[in-house]
Amino acid sequence: MLTNYDKIAQECDDARDVIFIKYADDYMHFKLIGDLSDKTILDIGCGTGSHTRAFRHLGAKKVVGIDYFKEMITIAEKKELSNPLNIEYFQQNIFEPFSIGLFDIVTAFSVISIASSQEELTVLFKSVYNNLLNGGRFIIAGLNPELSPSAYQKCEKYGFKVTCESPQIEGAIITSTLKINNNDVKFEDYYFKIDTYFHCLRNAGFTTINMHLPEISPEGIDKFGKEFWQDFITEKMQLYIECKKTSALG
Ligand SMILES: C[S@@+](CC[C@H](N)C(=O)[O-])C[C@H]1O[C@@H](n2cnc3c(N)ncnc32)[C@H](O)[C@@H]1O
Repeated sequence: MLTNYDKIAQECDDARDVIFIKYADDYMHFKLIGDLSDKTILDIGCGTGSHTRAFRHLGAKKVVGIDYFKEMITIAEKKELSNPLNIEYFQQNIFEPFSIGLFDIVTAFSVISIASSQEELTVLFKSVYNNLLNGGRFIIAGLNPELSPSAYQKCEKYGFKVTCESPQIEGAIITSTLKINNNDVKFEDYYFKIDTYFHCLRNAGFTTINMHLPEISPEGIDKFGKEFWQDFITEKMQLYIECKKTSALG
């Protein structure tokens, strides 16, 4: 794990106002999740609980969040304490096998790029598969690793910068820097091709895997205009993958 999230927990909690997160990413997260009424949902790499709390507000009947970094969970638990929503949090390294329960939906937002190898990706995706009900969905979102280096400088107007030590070489370190509360906050991840993600998802048992293109919320279009978002859409700056568990064995 390249990024020590314990040191940037508060910044992560304040990241919801970064332009692309507020007007594109969060919009896509909830669009892909769809109706949550009576659904059970596990958020892996849940951070400070922004999504887990939103899931409960949107009607999910059971929400669990797991994260490896103590400070992130501490902030999530403080929110739970001051305004209880009956959300459970567990400290768990997602690159070691885990068994939390059986859920309708598992989400991984800005998380899979933390994996440093295909082995870690496969362990993670197998655990997700095993924690899903038959017919359940796994929703992945994050920076598009295959974003062309020529587009890196176009990210800044959306609130982030990207650099990669060796673009398009698997295992290379890819750095995204977000402007949060006027500070540059760095997130270091690993580059893997989208095909590699698909390969590891299939290895884990997923047979229905679909990619979705980024979309912008109506508020984002109203505020900045369509033209402003053109690069974000054309360059496919964020990646959204939706997988379904369709095992006859459940
Ligand atoms: C970029 S943040 C995303 C947080 C949240 N999902 C969101 O979209 O706001 C990545 C999260 O993954 C967590 N994380 C990093 N390595 C992890 C690991 N090995 N196991 C579980 N969680 C991990 C971090 O603590 C952090 O909360």
